[in-house]
Amino acid sequence: MIILAIETSCDDTAIAIVEIKGQKNPRFSILSNIVSSQVKLHAKYGGVYPSLAKREHQKNLPIVLKKALRLASLKRKNLKIDLIAVTNGPGLEPCLWTGINFAKELSKKMRLPLIPVNHIEAHILANLIGRPALVVGLSTEPAICLIVSGGHTQIILMKGKAKRTQFSSLIHPASRESFGNYKIIGETRDDAAGECFDKTARILGLSYPGGPAIAKAAAKSAREIIHRVRPGRTKMKMRTQSSSPIDISLPRPMIHQKNYDFSFSGLKTAVLYQVNKKYGKALLRPAKSGTTEGRQYIKQMCVEIQQSIIDVLIRKTIKATKDYGAKTIILGGGVTANNELRKQFQKACFSSGFNLFVPPKNLSADNAAMIAVTGYFRSLRKKSKKAVGADANLQIG
Ligand code: KG4
Ligand code: ZN
Repeated sequence: MIILAIETSCDDTAIAIVEIKGQKNPRFSILSNIVSSQVKLHAKYGGVYPSLAKREHQKNLPIVLKKALRLASLKRKNLKIDLIAVTNGPGLEPCLWTGINFAKELSKKMRLPLIPVNHIEAHILANLIGRPALVVGLSTEPAICLIVSGGHTQIILMKGKAKRTQFSSLIHPASRESFGNYKIIGETRDDAAGECFDKTARILGLSYPGGPAIAKAAAKSAREIIHRVRPGRTKMKMRTQSSSPIDISLPRPMIHQKNYDFSFSGLKTAVLYQVNKKYGKALLRPAKSGTTEGRQYIKQMCVEIQQSIIDVLIRKTIKATKDYGAKTIILGGGVTANNELRKQFQKACFSSGFNLFVPPKNLSADNAAMIAVTGYFRSLRKKSKKAVGADANLQIG
């Protein structure tokens, strides 16, 4: 089966063509996966500007489609598209509609069925791409998914009814009824984790999107401090971050609460407060951040912002996994591209004896390949007769 998928829920215009081989244990191969980013356009606003994003999607979709088709070279391989999948939520409504309308026209023109896809579910199922062996060796218990992106921070229980492994319960036709059995058990009460990265980066005068900018500055800080330590002293290296000359400490919001919810707006406020206290009323001005001390301060603040977010995400996810008797953690969303987060989750899962699945970095952020995979599983379910429409607040479940 060949699926063409379209994703326009936020500021990326993405189209992918994915081939699915095998019924019992399907394998997904990406024939093309094009993402046209609008980051540069939105950078000056420090966030996504919906009407501008919509206009860009309209402009980009035909170009991205052409590229995706060319790269997939279906004709040469004697392949034909069987269905079209499109994100119908959650996301920015004008952006979602642009993708849906484009997909509808295409489905009419090509006489192909159109399948709506939940963006959050797609972030979870991105983990299946290129991992035919994923089914093997997983536990029979339910899995805990953590979705961390610019718009969402959710802990989702993926309930496994089947006796088989959790992922085979998604895949195996005999136990397909457990696929799509999700329950949100925790989520952010205000800002999403990615949003917190973006907003605090803005306070520090760093570029948009804030996640990669903060991660880069934090890594630089760690490297600089490591250079000051004598070579070969591994133990000392480990201690260097906290022994930095600039001592910054931020809260870990809700970390000790018994629920699985998050709150990141307080963290943003704490950063703003500390920066204002140190540098006066104004945010870091180029003049200040240009000084050695200012630059050092920003880098150290980045280390602390990143660590605060990671600490809370790991603590709550591990707690949920233990409480629900799960053995598997599945990560997804743009924030999971963060190296430190990936490393520290691996460490935490290793010491707790949990399986961890993180998508490859290019599939962590928004893409249409994950929409194709989810569209495939959706197509196996009972079809809804309702017309495909956008739902900005679409819930997984
Ligand atoms: O999943 P995604 O591409 O789009 C949404 O569905 O929102 O996630 C985008 C978010 C942004 O907030 C961005 O700052 C964050 O992911 N992000 C990162 C990193 N790369 C992207 N956050 C932390 N570290 C990164 N390396
Ligand atoms: Zn996303």
